[in-house]
Amino acid sequence: MARQKIAAGNWKMNTSHSDGYFLAEALTKAKRPSDVQTIMAVPYTHLGAVQALTFDKKNISVAAQNFHHEEKGAYTGEISINMLSSMHIPYAIIGHSERREYQKESNSLLATKLNLALSKNITPIFCCGEKLPIRKSKRHVSFVKKQLQQGLFHLSKSEIKNVIIAYEPVWAIGTGETASPAQAQEMHAAIRKMLADKYGQAIADDISILYGGSVKPANAKSLFGQPDVDGGLVGGASLDAPGFLEVINSF
Ligand code: PGA
Repeated sequence: MARQKIAAGNWKMNTSHSDGYFLAEALTKAKRPSDVQTIMAVPYTHLGAVQALTFDKKNISVAAQNFHHEEKGAYTGEISINMLSSMHIPYAIIGHSERREYQKESNSLLATKLNLALSKNITPIFCCGEKLPIRKSKRHVSFVKKQLQQGLFHLSKSEIKNVIIAYEPVWAIGTGETASPAQAQEMHAAIRKMLADKYGQAIADDISILYGGSVKPANAKSLFGQPDVDGGLVGGASLDAPGFLEVINSF
């Protein structure tokens, strides 16, 4: 998969089924730039409806927010990768900081999930990012490097090409506080360098790295204008169609 401009909305546990449907319908019908891939990571209950709206469209599609690390079995309430793949869901978020925090998902568990997604041709959106004390003590780059080394870097060259990375500083998620464009660029360039050191420059240059953390219409342009920022993973601001369309048009 070649590097591309991506505006991914992460709805989290928001919207009723009908509100979600109308939001996805508005985004699907709207005029959007043809060179930007729009992705809507919706709750499980909405996947079928949003997949039906988008499956025949070129540059807008649906994503799952998560799936279980076992392929099947007695895991009441969980969703498997096979269920997603049987619906032809093209993308899945892996390792969002809220799951790392509340579900205690570890780097090694996320590595297992990456393997599962890739084995089913589902493109993972792999999240990484540091909390505030780590940023304050200037250990953010080494912290993220460890997340990548333990969660991602077991992949082969041909596998890593099919991964999208989302850098989301935890202190900027849902807080209204955003990393400055310079802070985002610093980390994105560092991540690309880590990828280059591990897989070679050509592969590193081909991987999309998204920024997440209070992206909104007012700051999207300056963030997406950074050379190593290929787009955004957008929470709150993706729940409003006109606002998210502004974000989509910010490249
Ligand atoms: P936010 O969420 O845009 O509401 O900060 C981003 C995310 O968690 O992906």
